[in-house]
Amino acid sequence: MTHRPSLQEMLQKSSYQAYVYSYPHKTAYRSINPPISLEKLWSEENRKALFLYIHIPFCEMRCGFCNLFTTVKTDSDFVTQYINTVRRQANRVKSALGDATFARFAIGGGTPTQLPLHGLEAILDIAEETMEAKLQDIPISVEMSPETVDINKLTLLRDRGVDRASIGVQSFIDAEVLAIHRRQSASQVDTALTLMREAGFPTINIDLMYGLPGQTVDSWLQSIRAALRFQPEEIYLYPLYVRPLTGLGKSDREWDDSRIACYREGRSLLLSEGYTQVSMRMFRANHAPEASRPVYCCQADGMVGLGCGARSYTDSLHYSCHYAVSDQEVRHILEAFINTPDEAFDSANYGFQLDAEDRRRRYILLSLLSDEGLNQVNYCDRFGTDAFIDFPELSELIQLNLASLNNHTLVLTQAGIERSDTIGSWLFSDKVRQLMQAYNLK
Ligand SMILES: C[S@@+](CC[C@H](N)C(=O)[O-])C[C@H]1O[C@@H](n2cnc3c(N)ncnc32)[C@H](O)[C@@H]1O
Ligand code: SF4
Repeated sequence: MTHRPSLQEMLQKSSYQAYVYSYPHKTAYRSINPPISLEKLWSEENRKALFLYIHIPFCEMRCGFCNLFTTVKTDSDFVTQYINTVRRQANRVKSALGDATFARFAIGGGTPTQLPLHGLEAILDIAEETMEAKLQDIPISVEMSPETVDINKLTLLRDRGVDRASIGVQSFIDAEVLAIHRRQSASQVDTALTLMREAGFPTINIDLMYGLPGQTVDSWLQSIRAALRFQPEEIYLYPLYVRPLTGLGKSDREWDDSRIACYREGRSLLLSEGYTQVSMRMFRANHAPEASRPVYCCQADGMVGLGCGARSYTDSLHYSCHYAVSDQEVRHILEAFINTPDEAFDSANYGFQLDAEDRRRRYILLSLLSDEGLNQVNYCDRFGTDAFIDFPELSELIQLNLASLNNHTLVLTQAGIERSDTIGSWLFSDKVRQLMQAYNLK
């Protein structure tokens, strides 16, 4: 059996082990043989409040740090074929789902606004007509980048019911932007944000990154202040991660220290400006509309992903297309997606089956890493057991002052929140760790 490191051992290495935005990570996914019928799989699920996600794997540039599933190959024939394939997939998936209601919808990427206007329209039509999502009644979020935003696209999105526009800015300092191989200029960013405001999105989110080459705490705070000029309802502060096969350098202790310093100062500034911290990365303005808070509950409800790069979740199975980061592999996977015969969309052939332990671990991870915290009573209602008996190591968090237990809810302390990325990785099961370690990044 491999040694399972203690939390303290992991913290000694780094506070930045991995961004755990879902569990398990795609590098723990493997081929499923024989494939699992979607009709059968979804018939066992509650389909009353699903999350619909459509992935657009196209970008105008490949940023030096990015390991998302995306390509810069965006010639119009290829993009048209991609959209047609998403429509074919949607038809089969909708038949498999039968009677299903969507409580939320998101278009992510990559960069959805890299699509031409008619392409964006086609994606919205797929959601509304093929998947029968009630776009005017549910929260809808779309990711965008500064150079791909224009008034026609924003007006279309707003007219079709999109209420959250999320823009990746990363930094307002031109030299920092250049160092991560992004193309946007400060004036483009200002124009994009002004247009987004004018288009009337109730929620605007700005993504910023710290730990960038050449960035100092002062220049970081300058970027946050520049973002605050637009009074965004949400701000995400992402620590830079550099992983294999992305274009930047390596991490070291000094880098950890500078990321922690940026995090602390950035957090203080946002709190002093009336933002509430929802998780290590997410801050919500007190003026954010109540309606923008999710109806969909990631703990209980399923996700239906369409497009190459999207994941789908049921309680027992997470599945997707194959995963890669290098441009060549991403293209192979995209070409295979476009050539997929209709009937192959009826089943899941790549993913991860969650056993009783991993379902519990996922529940703990998702609740503990947000301000909601891990409620023992809710956990017991869901699994019929006590979280501290299932996972006695949770009490280590309390001993290390990284979490406290109030009203049966385990909530991370300030020290815990800033170490979320290590606490998350520490909670992975042995099975997930081994699969992730054995995965050959392509
Ligand atoms: C899909 S992108 C946002 C939209 C658009 N593609 C863009 O970049 O402007 C999601 C966000 O994840 C964050 N991100 C991506 N890769 C990252 C990495 N290696 N380290 C830290 N943050 C990262 C960035 O802040 C980025 O804005
Ligand atoms: S950060 Fe955004 S624009 Fe840059 S490569 Fe990744 S998805 Fe594309």
